This record gives sequence, C-alpha cells and structure tokens, in this order.
Amino acid sequence: MKVTVIGAGNVGATCANVIAHGDYASEVILLDIKEGIAEGKALDIWQTAAINMYNTRVVGVTNDYARTANSDVVVITSGLPRKPGMSRDDLISTNAGIVRGVTENIMKHSPNTIVIVVSNPLDVMTYCAFLTAKIDSKKVFGMAGILDTARYKAFLAEALNCSPKDIQAVLMGGHGDTMVPLPRYTTVSGIPVTELINKEKLNAIIERTKKGGGELVNLMGTSAWYAPGAAAAQMVEAIAKNENRIYPCCVWLQGEYGLKDVYLGVPVKLGRNGIEQVIELKLNTEEEKLLIDSATAVKEVMSVLDKMTVPAN
Ligand code: NAI
Ligand code: 2OP
Repeated sequence: MKVTVIGAGNVGATCANVIAHGDYASEVILLDIKEGIAEGKALDIWQTAAINMYNTRVVGVTNDYARTANSDVVVITSGLPRKPGMSRDDLISTNAGIVRGVTENIMKHSPNTIVIVVSNPLDVMTYCAFLTAKIDSKKVFGMAGILDTARYKAFLAEALNCSPKDIQAVLMGGHGDTMVPLPRYTTVSGIPVTELINKEKLNAIIERTKKGGGELVNLMGTSAWYAPGAAAAQMVEAIAKNENRIYPCCVWLQGEYGLKDVYLGVPVKLGRNGIEQVIELKLNTEEEKLLIDSATAVKEVMSVLDKMTVPAN
C-alpha cells in the first residue's frame, strides 16, 4: 500500500506520522510546494522508525508528483487556513485553486487512487476534488466526521468521567456550525447516553462540539492538527486493511437521505474500494430537518464554487 500525503504542514505531517506508526503502508510520500519542508519532516518521521518499531518508509518531496506515482490513497491537506481580512469567498477561491491543481497532478500519476480531502472548507473542497478528478465518487471523499465525533466523545468522556473508548456516536451534516450530532445514536457501552447525562449538559456538549474547531483556533491562533491528522490516518487505515469500518465521512449523496448532488457527512462503510456503502439511518423529523438545513448551507457554498473561475494553482 502506497500512500501520498499532500501538504507537509501541521495536519499533513501529523497524518503521515500516524500512518507510519501504524505500519500498514509500505511507503508514505509527503509532498509540499515549499522547498525542503516535506523532505525535512519526512526524514524526521522516518528517524522514529527504529524507536517506534515500524517499517513504513517515509519520503519527502518538493512538488515532485512523479514520486507519488501509483499511490493507492492520496490525502490532500494543502491549503490555507482563513486569515484576518479574508472573506469566505477568498478562502474558497484560494484553496480551490490549490486543491484543483493538486488533484490534477495526482490523477496524472495515480489514476486509480482513492482521494481523501482534508482542506477547508471541507465539504466544498471535496466537491472541488471530485469535479477535477473525474472518477467514481466512491473514491473521492472528505474527512471531518471522525474528527467532529472524536471531539464529541472527548467532551462526553470528560463529563461522564469514563473512558472515551466506551463511547459510540455518530455525527452527520457539513463540517461547521450546521453539523448534526445525534444523541439518539450515542451510547456508552450500549447504554443510551441520555440515561447517563441530563439534557442541559448534553446540549452544552453538542454546542461545544459544533464550535470545536473554533475553540482550538482561539486557543492556538491556528487550526488543530493532532486530532485532524489522526482522523485522516484512521480513514487510510480502514482502506489499507479493508476493514469495512463504519465512520462518518463527507460523501457525494445521490438520493440517500432524500438528498442529491451534495457532498455531506453521513455514516459509511469504509474499505478497500473506498466508500463500500452509505448507511441510511432512520432519522426523526427534527433530525431530518437539521440534516436538510445543513445540506442547504453546504449547497450554497458549493454554488459559490460553481460560479467561480478558479485557475489551478
Ligand atoms: P498548514 O498551513 O500547516 O499546512 C498547509 C501546507 O500546505 C503548507 O505546508 C503549504 O506549503 C502546503 N501547500 C500549499 N499549497 C500547496 C500546493 N499547491 N501543493 C502542495 N502543498 C501546498 O495548514 P494545516 O494546519 O496543516 O491545515 C491544512 C488544511 O486543512 C487547511 O485548509 C485547514 O483549514 C484544513 N483542516 C481541515 C480539518 C478538517 O476537519 N477537515 C481540520 C483541520 C484543518
Ligand atoms: C477544525 O475543525 C478548523 O476544520 C478545522 O479543527
């Protein structure tokens, strides 16, 4: 299994590091546009192999797509975080140019690859990669739901003073304020979470989860990377090991949940071929409305991209 990670910044380097530690990939290529950065970080990661006892060869390159040839999975983390004074449309335009250029280069050298998008705004950048890659949508999807669910689980574990390992949960919708946590589908070792925590506390946790990315930006002045990098690596692992794990991922919906032509977070089965199955949960009226509202918000941003002329960057 050959994996390429595009962007050797905070998220990309963390993702490459976690993949290497998992020891299921034969090779990880870390690529960045900045001279030397990917080479340096890859070398540093590779030098942990003898300490952490793995074989995965980690190699860094500066924009050398020939070295990424025949990748089985490519993770795209290249892109800017939003900066002061930058409008959302500016961010979309800049990052779409980057994601488009990167995807074109990837597809030239790895036409059979699976593409996992991490760059923000996530749902729309995944759509951008899909339009550019022109491959089966089952092979182009985005990472957000695993991260958002992990944050929700972390807050719950803290409130319940229990192990995060025992919490099962699923979140749906777009990556942002309109995400849809589902308390009805949250359990702690099989016990409905509503049996263990009062409604007020649970609602506070849900609200904190929705703003989880912003909380970290406020603390650090930039967005998070440990959990995002690990979340993307977990998706790579499910594919590499053909695990058929059920995770919330951002996927192209074609009628599922009554939604069409939109990239949105829903639970899926992830295996060797990418999205093996979209899982359709029974939603109640309130949950369904929240999901539709989230899809509407994502579609609005997708239409901003549709109306833009974005040169590949
Ligand atoms: P960063 O600034 O640390 O790293 C981005 C890297 O991309 C830089 O090293 C930069 O040189 C590189 N890059 C830029 N243009 C490139 C190109 N054309 N080709 C190759 N490399 C290029 O940013 P960070 O923190 O790693 O975040 C990366 C992206 O991931 C951002 O858009 C961020 O908003 C997003 N993100 C998404 C999350 C999610 O849940 N989906 C969670 C956290 C971050
Ligand atoms: C996060 O959720 C900002 O998408 C980034 O951490």
